[in-house]
Amino acid sequence: MRKDQNYDLSNGAWLNLPSLNLTVKSLFTGYLLTIGLGAILASAQILVTHGMADGKLGLSVDDIVFSYHGDPANSKIETKLNGSMRDKASSADKLKIIKWVRAGASEEQWESQIKNIFYTNCVSCHSMIPGIPDFTQYEGVKNVAQIDEGASTTSLTRVSHIHIFAISFIFFFNGLIFSLAVGFKQWFKIMIIFLPFFFLTVDVFSWWLTKLDPSFAWMTIISGIGYNLCSITTWGTSIYQMWILPMSRKSYRVNTWTE
Ligand code: HEC
Repeated sequence: MRKDQNYDLSNGAWLNLPSLNLTVKSLFTGYLLTIGLGAILASAQILVTHGMADGKLGLSVDDIVFSYHGDPANSKIETKLNGSMRDKASSADKLKIIKWVRAGASEEQWESQIKNIFYTNCVSCHSMIPGIPDFTQYEGVKNVAQIDEGASTTSLTRVSHIHIFAISFIFFFNGLIFSLAVGFKQWFKIMIIFLPFFFLTVDVFSWWLTKLDPSFAWMTIISGIGYNLCSITTWGTSIYQMWILPMSRKSYRVNTWTE
């Protein structure tokens, strides 16, 4: 055991990010790098699923409205043909599909005129990719030819509880590591550790509110920005204080859990 005069183990003066030993730092760093990668993948996923909902790349209020509230003036298929599926068929074919849907999507017309359009443009994916509707049969198309009601209650319930449980764990460990940071006022630490949980709850609430009323889409955007800012700050600070700060050779003797 080390016995230098300034190194008093009994008062926990080693309990701060720069002073941790390599074992604990490697555990914390492995965790932080992995959730960092997870966050990048999650952003990419949001961009492809929600980002294109309004037909334009990038996340906007319209995307949130289309995803959660839907577009009651249009069927899902029409929304998609103007959105993420818009490059999947020629304008002429898209117009034929939309006219057919607006006229009530009858099965007779499907058999005689529309089926072929789907077979040429859509079924290469919409027959074998799991999780998206199968367009080889009339039934599969009929379901999306109805009014677009946005996210279903079943899918929102599922995503809400997974989101709350899983992400609060990520925030918990990210916050626990950051609680060992040196050089911050306590009120700032409390705020930046607690806020992500608050924003997470607001975020999930806002999906349900947006489903009811599109004007709540702003809440989704603001809470998302909120917890991202907090997490990036805590994440970056933790990495910095474990690896860059100790290079200054200054020793940090502070028990971050009591002071
Ligand atoms: C290259 C593969 C591909 C092709 C071709 C394709 N789609 Fe899709 N489609 C997808 C994927 C992946 C999704 C799920 C992601 C999304 O909603 O953007 C999807 C989703 C949809 C949805 C939403 C389904 C739902 O229940 O949320 C509709 C409607 C749709 N496509 C219509 C079409 C139509 C109509 C065509 C042909 C003109 C077509 N798609 C061609 C891959 C494809």
